[in-house]
Amino acid sequence: MSDQSMEQRIMEAVRFIEEEIPYSPEVGLILGSGLGVLADAMEDVTVIHYEEIPHFPVSTVEGHASELLVGTVRGKKTLLMKGRFHLYEGYDVTKVSFPVRVMKALGVRSLLVTNAAGGINASYEPGQLMLISDHINFMFRNPLIGRNENALGVRFPDMSEAYSAKLRALARQTAEGMGLQLQEGVYAGLLGPSYETPAEIRMLRTLGADAVGMSTVPEVIAARHAGIEVLGISCITNMAAGMLEQSLSHEEVMETANRVKERFLALVSAIIPQL
Ligand code: 6GU
Repeated sequence: MSDQSMEQRIMEAVRFIEEEIPYSPEVGLILGSGLGVLADAMEDVTVIHYEEIPHFPVSTVEGHASELLVGTVRGKKTLLMKGRFHLYEGYDVTKVSFPVRVMKALGVRSLLVTNAAGGINASYEPGQLMLISDHINFMFRNPLIGRNENALGVRFPDMSEAYSAKLRALARQTAEGMGLQLQEGVYAGLLGPSYETPAEIRMLRTLGADAVGMSTVPEVIAARHAGIEVLGISCITNMAAGMLEQSLSHEEVMETANRVKERFLALVSAIIPQL
């Protein structure tokens, strides 16, 4: 089994999924903590449990489901990952990014990634949405390490526009048209699972980060390698450590995500048909 190439593993997963679904999805969605509501906006949904898919990892975190949904969002053929994989769960970075490779092989051309993130920029407030303009990889892991499979992408992928400027402009216009406020900033991806110390947050701010989280970076690197266009949206669920006179908790993260979900759902479902 371990002798199988990445490409072979991808094709096994793809063959399994293709048996279950009526058409190829064009848009991929990876939803973060507490932001799974988008599933409710999908029509004609086929649900596939991650456990059933060859080589797929299975997520373990509370608040994360483990389902792949294929259906339409306002007519757009969409594949939604309800529940994502995090490095802090102990998965290898190649496992975390595997579903993105599968998406590509299924026909996905654009990927919308969302996450819950802590605000580092002092002008942000919990409950705001932030368009990701760029990221800083503070995970010091990269899904592309190892022999490059040229069929999947180039050895040294360009990351100068990891988050598509065109898709960001589209998201900004859509939010504006709906009267929704949208911040735009740099996402720092850290391993977790402990939240950062105040000193680490000061360091990240100095280095140019506006928000911090524990996901997204591996998937986006794999997507860019595969030539998939990426749009990223963070939900600022809380301010990062040391910014307010209070401690951080996963409950607060889930509470804010829950409070924002209707607005988030409205924005994302308006964006998807335009992708
Ligand atoms: Cl403050 N840090 C990290 N790493 N992830 C988060 C967060 C903070 N808030 C939500 N997710």
